[in-house]
Amino acid sequence: MVSAHSAVSVITSKRDGGELDDGQIDWVVDAFTRGEVADEQMSALAMAILLRGMTRREIARWTRAMIESGKRMDFTDLPRPTVDKHSTGGVGDKITLPLAPLVAACGAAVPQLSGRGLGHTGGTLDKLESIPGWRADITVPRMREMLADPKIGAVICAAGADLAPADKRLYALRDVTGTVESIPLIASSIMSKKIAEGTAALVLDVKVGGGAFMKDIGSARELATAMVELGTDAGVRTVALLTAMDTPLGRTAGNALEVAESVEVLAGGGPADVVELTLALAREMVAQAGIHDVDPAEVLADGRAMDHWRAMIAAQGGDPDAPLPTAKHTETLTAVDSGTLTRLDALPVGLAAWRLGAGRARQGDPVQSGAGIEIHAKPGDPVTAGQPLLTLHTDTPDAIPVALETLRDAYAIGPGSAAPTPLVLDRIAP
Ligand code: URA
Repeated sequence: MVSAHSAVSVITSKRDGGELDDGQIDWVVDAFTRGEVADEQMSALAMAILLRGMTRREIARWTRAMIESGKRMDFTDLPRPTVDKHSTGGVGDKITLPLAPLVAACGAAVPQLSGRGLGHTGGTLDKLESIPGWRADITVPRMREMLADPKIGAVICAAGADLAPADKRLYALRDVTGTVESIPLIASSIMSKKIAEGTAALVLDVKVGGGAFMKDIGSARELATAMVELGTDAGVRTVALLTAMDTPLGRTAGNALEVAESVEVLAGGGPADVVELTLALAREMVAQAGIHDVDPAEVLADGRAMDHWRAMIAAQGGDPDAPLPTAKHTETLTAVDSGTLTRLDALPVGLAAWRLGAGRARQGDPVQSGAGIEIHAKPGDPVTAGQPLLTLHTDTPDAIPVALETLRDAYAIGPGSAAPTPLVLDRIAP
C-alpha cells in the first residue's frame, strides 16, 4: 500500500515550525527503522527538531514510536519492586557501580541497562569490563534470575539490539550531525530505552555544569521536566535530581580507577561527594520502590551492599577479588603555588582521561582499562607548592603531552578559602 506520508513532507512541516501529528511521527520513526527513510532525511529532520523544538504531545508520541520500534521488557512478575536510575553523564560518574547493589540490598530489584562511553564521559560497561572475567552480555532469562535472587537483586548489562532500535540508529546519526543537544531528542532517547526496559520506577540524575550536556540550571530543569512527564505518562514512577557537574565526581576518572573507588565506597570509605550522591539517589530509589523501612546509609555501612556487589559481579563471570588492571605509565602534575584549589574543571579532566585512552573517539574502538586520571586535591582543599595535584595513567605515553596541554587551564590555586558548593541542586517530581 502506498503511504500517505513522505519524508520530505514531514521534514518541511517541522522545518517551517509546524507541529507533527501522530500519524506523521509513527510513520517516520517506523519507516526509518525499516530503512525506507534514508539517514540523510532523518538527519535533516533531527536538525529541524533541534531548531524548532517539539510540543509535549509530540515528544510523548515520538518516545512511544521509538519504544514500539523494538521489544518492551516486562518484570511485573518479579517478587521484588523494580527501580532503576539513569544519569545524563558526567566526569568521574561511577555512581551506578555502588548504587545498584546498594538499592538491591535494600530490597528492590535493579535492572540497569547501560551503555559504553563515547567522548569525554565514561560508560558504565567500560568500567565494569575492567574487572577480570566480567561480561556485559546477559540474556533476558539470566537477567530475570539475577533480579529475583535475594542475594543479588541487581544486574548491570548491555541493552539487547531489540530495545528501542530506532533510538540506536538515530543516536548514531545525531552524534555525527551536531544534533545531540536537543532537549526533545535527548528526553525521548533516554526515556524510550528506560520505559522499554520495563522498570516500574525510575530516578534520573540530570547533570548540570561545565562537564555536562546541560550547562545551566534552566536547561537542566527543562530536560528533567520533559523526562519526568514522559515517565509519568507511561506509568513509570519518575523523579529527577539535578546535580552539579562542574568538577569531577570523586577522585578518579577512568575505567579500573573508578571501579577501585566504587569498591572503596562499598567498603565504607571513598570520597565524600561520591558517598553523598550515592545515598541521595538510593533514598529516592527505595522510596520510589515503595520501601520505607530501610536506611540505605546503614545498608552501606554494615557491608550488605558490598555482599550484593560481590554476588552481582560473580554472577556475570567477574572475579571481585582479582587485582584490577593498572596502566603501564604514570605522570604526576604538581602544584606550582600554595593556597586553596579554587576550581578543577570537569570537562578538561574528562577530555584528558579520554586522550589517555580511557574513552573512545568512535563507536567500537577499544578502551584502556588502566587509563585515566587520579585527583589528589578537590576544590576547597588547601595545597602547597610541589604537592601532587593529578596523576595521569596510560599505556600509551605518547598521549601524555596532549593530556597535559588539555589540563593546562583546568584548575586554579588562589588565596583564602573556597565556599563549598552543593551537590544536589534541585528535585523535579510530577
Ligand atoms: N544519552 C542518551 O541515551 N541519549 C541522548 O540523546 C543523550 C544521552
